[in-house]
Amino acid sequence: MTSSKSIRHWKFTKFLSNKDYIFNRSYVLKFVSSKLLSNAYKSISSWKNYKVTPLLSLNKLKKDLKLKNVFYKDESKRFHLKSFKALGGAYAVEKISKGKKNIIISSATAGNHGRSVAWGAKRLGLKCKIFVSQYVSDTRVNEIKKFGAEVISVKGDYESSLNECKKLSKKNKWKIVQDVSTKNYKLVPQLTMAGYSLMIKEISKQTNQYITHIFLQAGVGGMAAGVVAGVAKYFKRIPKIIIVEPDRADCVLQSIKSRKLKKIKIKKESIMGGMSCNEMSYIPWQILKKASNYCVSVSDKNVAKTVALLKDKKLSKNSIIGGECSTPGIISLVSVFNNSKTRKLIELNEKSNVLIIGCEGNADVKLYKQLLSKGRK
Ligand SMILES: Cc1ncc(COP(=O)(O)O)c(C=O)c1O
Repeated sequence: MTSSKSIRHWKFTKFLSNKDYIFNRSYVLKFVSSKLLSNAYKSISSWKNYKVTPLLSLNKLKKDLKLKNVFYKDESKRFHLKSFKALGGAYAVEKISKGKKNIIISSATAGNHGRSVAWGAKRLGLKCKIFVSQYVSDTRVNEIKKFGAEVISVKGDYESSLNECKKLSKKNKWKIVQDVSTKNYKLVPQLTMAGYSLMIKEISKQTNQYITHIFLQAGVGGMAAGVVAGVAKYFKRIPKIIIVEPDRADCVLQSIKSRKLKKIKIKKESIMGGMSCNEMSYIPWQILKKASNYCVSVSDKNVAKTVALLKDKKLSKNSIIGGECSTPGIISLVSVFNNSKTRKLIELNEKSNVLIIGCEGNADVKLYKQLLSKGRK
């Protein structure tokens, strides 16, 4: 046993097959067009300090599970932000500002998106106002302030911060950059998703193996849908798409189960903060309701352990810095493998080339340290 014996006991909370699954490239690219994806790649790959993030092999885990490959896209190395989010908000800021220098950018955020927007504004020398709810941690607020943005704290939850952002932005003619789409707000979230698709463009050049399974974390579904759009454009073969969520915030699983957008109640926040969302974004719903094969939800129980396994080279020959949202892809893969029914159903075997997205590094340094020390006990 090379990785860790204890992983053999990991279990998922829920597993669901999507009855409406049908992958159609042109259907997916109707929502985030091929042109939008090409433009995003052209722009972002020309940014200063752009580097393709590593596609690592979790070679010890693959051996244990007897799979052909387990690839890990290491987004802890993405620009200065240590997260794939750098590809989304910052790119949308660039497109929306259209080279103008006298505009002010605004956004409401639970943390990571706001950082990307603030960084994007700083890159272009634009002023930026970020609205956060009273629950956003000081560490996250300070990370946003580092990029020169003014942070406005609003009493109440995320929705209150978004309402205040909309009110003041309308009054002051600030340009709002939100990553969540509704029926009437699409362009900025589409640009954000187009940015995320870069991960797939890069992977298509980093390996000549056909990926057979992708485990995709979801909050409101923007990242998952952006990656699926990338798959539709850049991959020759379509892998099985498995959506992964915290069991306390499984809005994608519940929506796919009920075949309509479902708002859920979050009773207790998951430690996987970026994924703790109660409702899907509109365009991701349109894409994922057809393009995802399966949904899996997992508890917080093994998050700290996985952070430590990554760091302590138990899954690979490299030491990997993976934050809380990087873990559920691995936890889901192992849990689905441990259950012989689901393992057979999704065809995890010696021919499988699995892709895991390591969404973030130690974006919240304090939380990362806590998780690492807990996971090592
Ligand atoms: C750091 C972080 N934030 C947020 C998310 C969720 O993204 P989205 O809300 O676009 O689904 C993820 C991954 O799913 C993540 O790793």
